[in-house]
Amino acid sequence: MFTKEIYIKRREELKQSVKSGIILLLGNGEAPMNYDGNTCDFRQDSSFIYYAGLDTPDLAYILDIDQNKEYLLGDELTIDDVVWMGNFPSLKERAAEAGINTVLPFSQLSSLVGVAMKSGRTVHYLKPYRYRNKLLLSELLGKQIDSLAADFSLELTRTIIRMRLIKSNEELVELEDAGKTGYAMHIVAMKMCRQGVSEREIAGMIEGLAISKGNRVSFPTILSMNGQTLHNHDHSGILQKGRLMLCDAGAENLNYYASDFTRTTAVGGEYSEQQKEIHNIVLKALNDSIDMAKPGVAYKTVNRNAYRVIFEGLRELGLTKGDTEEALEAGAPALFMPHGLGHALGLDVHDMEDLGETLTGYDDRIKRDTLFGYRSLRFGKHLEPGLVLTVEPGIYFIPQLIEKWKAEKTNADFIRFDTLKNYCNFGGIRLEDDIVITPQGCRPVYEKRLPVTVEEIRAAVNNERIN
Ligand code: GLY
Ligand code: MN
Repeated sequence: MFTKEIYIKRREELKQSVKSGIILLLGNGEAPMNYDGNTCDFRQDSSFIYYAGLDTPDLAYILDIDQNKEYLLGDELTIDDVVWMGNFPSLKERAAEAGINTVLPFSQLSSLVGVAMKSGRTVHYLKPYRYRNKLLLSELLGKQIDSLAADFSLELTRTIIRMRLIKSNEELVELEDAGKTGYAMHIVAMKMCRQGVSEREIAGMIEGLAISKGNRVSFPTILSMNGQTLHNHDHSGILQKGRLMLCDAGAENLNYYASDFTRTTAVGGEYSEQQKEIHNIVLKALNDSIDMAKPGVAYKTVNRNAYRVIFEGLRELGLTKGDTEEALEAGAPALFMPHGLGHALGLDVHDMEDLGETLTGYDDRIKRDTLFGYRSLRFGKHLEPGLVLTVEPGIYFIPQLIEKWKAEKTNADFIRFDTLKNYCNFGGIRLEDDIVITPQGCRPVYEKRLPVTVEEIRAAVNNERIN
C-alpha cells in the first residue's frame, strides 16, 4: 500500500473530474473454487485498489460528489473470523490508512445508493466483470444484468483510464519490482529448458518463484513447445531436442503491479538455422519497435512497422512475396502474427481491460482496425511519457490457419503457400519486453534485459552467463 496522501490525492482528482452524482466502486468478493469455504486466491479489483488501497474482500467505496462525502462500506471481523482467519486491524483503522474516515456496515450500501437514485442523482459505476458484482449491482440499481454493461458510467470510466494509464514514479518502482521477479522467472525457465524436462515442471518452478516474491503470477503461464497457440496453457509436453519452448510469463508483486515477458528458447539452447532465421526477424521487429516508441508516435504505427519487418523478413526467406505496402494494406502479415504488438501494463497485465479494451487503447484520433490480426491490437493510441507497455512481436506457423487461407486463397498474392509446408511443425516465436515511455523515447521497466539474441539465450541455457 502507498501512503494515504496518494489515495487522497487520487480521489480528489476523481472528484474534480466527475462533476456530480455518486461514484460507486465495488471491491471483489471471495470466489469459491469447489465449495464456499475453499476459495480461489483472492484478488481485489484493480480500480478499487487504486483509489481505496484495501485488499480484503467484500468492500465498497462511495464518493458522494454533491455532498463532498466518502464512505467505505464493509463489516468488521466477527469472533468466528478471528478464530479461523486471525486477528487484523479493524476496518476503521485500515480505512484510515487510505485516508477514508467514515466506515459503514456493508448492509447500508443499498440505502445509500437508493437515496441517491430516489433524488434523481447519477450513480456512476464501472462495467462489472464478476458475477457476484453483477448480481449485486443489478439488485442495487434495479437493472437487468444484461443492461449493466451498456449503462455503466462512461464519464467515470474515461476518468479512471486517464488517471491509471500514466504511471507515477511510485508506481514505476512497483512495476520494476514485478519486472525483477519476471526476469528471474525467465532465467529459471531458460536454464531448465533441456531435453526430457516436462513443461509442467518448468511452469511450476517459475510460478512458485512468482509466489515466493510477491502475490502470484500476473496471468496463467503460457509455456509450451506449441507456441503457435497464442495463449497455450497446456503444460503436458516433455521437451524434445529440436523444438522451441515459448514461455510467456510474469509476476504480480505485493502491491499488485504486473510484469509480462516472453522468450522463446530452443531446447538445450541449440537453434537450427531455420529457427535462428525466424528468431532474428522477430528480434528485429522487437528492437525496431522499441527504437520507434516515443512520445507523439501512435502505437498503431509501431504495430504496423512490426508487421512490415515481419513481412519483409519472411520475403527474404521466400515465405512471402509482392509489394510490402500493398501486403500491409491487405493484412497479409497477420497470417504470421494474428495478435497485436502490445498492451498497457499496470495493476492488470492487460491494464484496464475490464474497463473496455477499446476505451483504454483507442481514442478519437486512433481508431481500432477491422482487419483480422490488426484488430487484435489492444493499444493503438499516441504514446506519452509515463505510459507502460509491452512490446511483443511474434511469428507463428498455425497449420489450421495456413490451410484455411490456402484453401480460400486469402492474400494469395502475398503468401508463398508452397514454401510454408516446410514450417508446419515449427511452432512459434514471440519475444516480449516491458517498456516505459520517457520524454525522449522509452526505457525498460526493469533495467536488466532478459537474454534475447540466440547467442545470449544459448549461453543462459548453458549457465554461461548469469545475470
Ligand atoms: N502475456 C499474455 C498476453 O499478453 O496476452
Ligand atoms: Mn503481453
